[in-house]
Amino acid sequence: MRPSTGYAMREQNRAFVDDPAWTGVEIDFQRANHALRVIPYLHAHAFEYVSVHALELSVASLEPPRRCYLEELLAVAEENGAVAISDHLGFNDARRGGPAVGHVMAPPCTFEALDRVCRNVDRIQRFFGDKTFFLENLSHFFVWPGEMDEIDFVCRVLERTGCGLLLDVTNAYADEMNFGFDARAFVSGTVGSASRIQMHLAGGFVETKSGRYVDSHSEPIPEPVWALCLEAIRLGQRKFEALFIERDWNFPSEQGWRDELRQLRQVTEAMEPNTCHG
Ligand SMILES: [Fe+2]
Repeated sequence: MRPSTGYAMREQNRAFVDDPAWTGVEIDFQRANHALRVIPYLHAHAFEYVSVHALELSVASLEPPRRCYLEELLAVAEENGAVAISDHLGFNDARRGGPAVGHVMAPPCTFEALDRVCRNVDRIQRFFGDKTFFLENLSHFFVWPGEMDEIDFVCRVLERTGCGLLLDVTNAYADEMNFGFDARAFVSGTVGSASRIQMHLAGGFVETKSGRYVDSHSEPIPEPVWALCLEAIRLGQRKFEALFIERDWNFPSEQGWRDELRQLRQVTEAMEPNTCHG
């Protein structure tokens, strides 16, 4: 079985769930957790692979995730038939009730942060039971001083906790553009350490004033990101479970939605069937 392919579902692409290239879906937890909902977010549509994407587990915080947040996440996963749940390798706040960062921020790559992340991920995985938990690499606003490089940090988290990797190849590309990190080295290092992998792809733009690449989820996926995707698939093969495109602004035409989806499907169709998961 090849990896599932699809979009992070938004109201703007919901009309295209019938596309044969759309076989897996990522649900945004905040959208799906509407307090007055009477039907599941996916309605009656069946996908071969469903994953719920969260924003506030804050695995690098000093304190563990709130129990009510874990319970709500699991409820949304169960009512939509999800087999996986994901969030970011970062923090929203250092302490519960303290000032929020305003975005999920990557932690410093220190041994103390490593222990904290692994402790929180262990708790999350115990709570989620048979639903696989995936951690996503973030792009950076700035880089903290640390005791190891980020590839080493991510690999240690994956190896110590056994959690899955949500490899955002656009975030790796943004870090290469903005900080000179080696995106291919990030892909090969982390894919090598992960046992199960999902992927995010998106397109952004170079901000004129700062000259920085902004991962805005508003543009078609650029060629260097497709190249990273292909490299990751070549290295990871059967570890890949699902590939999701993220698009949140500047929405394309119907043909645009369908073309990018088909391009993603073609990436997986180039894989040898007997080397894929399942
Ligand atoms: Fe992402």
